[in-house]
Amino acid sequence: MKAIVVTNQAAGAAGMRLVERPEAQAAINDVVVKVHAAGFVNTELTWPSTWTDRLGRDRTPTIPGHELAGVVTGLGYGTAGLSIGQRVFGLADWYRDGTLAEYLAIEARNLAPLPDDIDFTVGASLPISGLTAWQGLFRHGRLHAGQRVIAHGAAGAVGSMVAQLAREAGAHVIGTGRAADRQKALDFGANEFVDLENEPLEDVGQVDLVFDLIGGDVGKRSAGLVRAAGTIVSIVGPLETKRADATAIDFVVEADRAQLTEIVQRVRDGRLRTNIGVVAPLSDAVATFNSTERRSGKTVINVRPIEQPTKADASQNMVSVDN
Ligand SMILES: NC(=O)c1ccc[n+]([C@@H]2O[C@H](COP(=O)([O-])OP(=O)(O)OC[C@H]3O[C@@H](n4cnc5c(N)ncnc54)[C@H](OP(=O)(O)O)[C@@H]3O)[C@@H](O)[C@H]2O)c1
Repeated sequence: MKAIVVTNQAAGAAGMRLVERPEAQAAINDVVVKVHAAGFVNTELTWPSTWTDRLGRDRTPTIPGHELAGVVTGLGYGTAGLSIGQRVFGLADWYRDGTLAEYLAIEARNLAPLPDDIDFTVGASLPISGLTAWQGLFRHGRLHAGQRVIAHGAAGAVGSMVAQLAREAGAHVIGTGRAADRQKALDFGANEFVDLENEPLEDVGQVDLVFDLIGGDVGKRSAGLVRAAGTIVSIVGPLETKRADATAIDFVVEADRAQLTEIVQRVRDGRLRTNIGVVAPLSDAVATFNSTERRSGKTVINVRPIEQPTKADASQNMVSVDN
């Protein structure tokens, strides 16, 4: 099968190659998925799990990518809950070969059914950004209606999901980002916006929850804005400055079938819009990941030619190529 591999951490995205790899084999409780579309987060080339297995042994050549949408083509021993021919989407294990490939072996529990009216490109854009936002806001952040939330990077992949889900939950959402992102962040549900390069974040006053995906100085300044007994949720590592009177949590997103189902249902009924910036075929994926252009939103690789949704309401899903 065709797959993208990386073998050299120092080379970063420049070291990606499209090569032939052996077919994926289903282990116990796995399925094999014929991948139609895959998502990729640039930072994964810096994660230890891309380069070693759980015992710290070199596992290169590694197939990167952890988001996928596709069709089940094989079942491992004892696998239940999914069937051959079923459309699925989900989040692949950090320590196994990933989704930038024609086929993938993955534990069935990491997947959820993909409804017929959601196309594969949209399905592959949702797992990391959707689940991270959901888990950060509702599991770790315990968000409830009426609270004030800072959604950093609100025009980006995760931040646009944070802004929408927090707004739907009845929160007041303060989106942040760069000057050019203001309108996009407001369109994704932010009630107000702070241009972090030109406006003082401190002017927003006290908040109940900070969802930090920038870290560094922005993370530190944000922590100072959380009210006593409030929460700082970080997806970019532990807070550098501790607050004795507030809860600080950093976490890595986990697969969750029930949450994936909640997320895709919101896309179907228009409560949640995807934020896809660039869509490219597998043959162009290496060049796409090595582009120096600024990208806003998810990059999705269509591993196979695009299949049209059966009951499409394409206007529900903002699939735009904006650079
Ligand atoms: N722990 C986890 O489970 C988890 C899950 C998902 C993502 N992440 C991490 O979260 C981070 C964000 O991921 P993402 O996919 O949402 O990235 P993204 O799509 O690039 O979104 C980040 C947004 O924040 C903006 N931004 C970053 N630094 C900024 C600054 N100093 N001032 C103003 N705006 C700034 C970016 O603008 P520019 O593009 O112009 O910089 C972009 O619009 C990444 O580091 C990723 O690895 C962690």
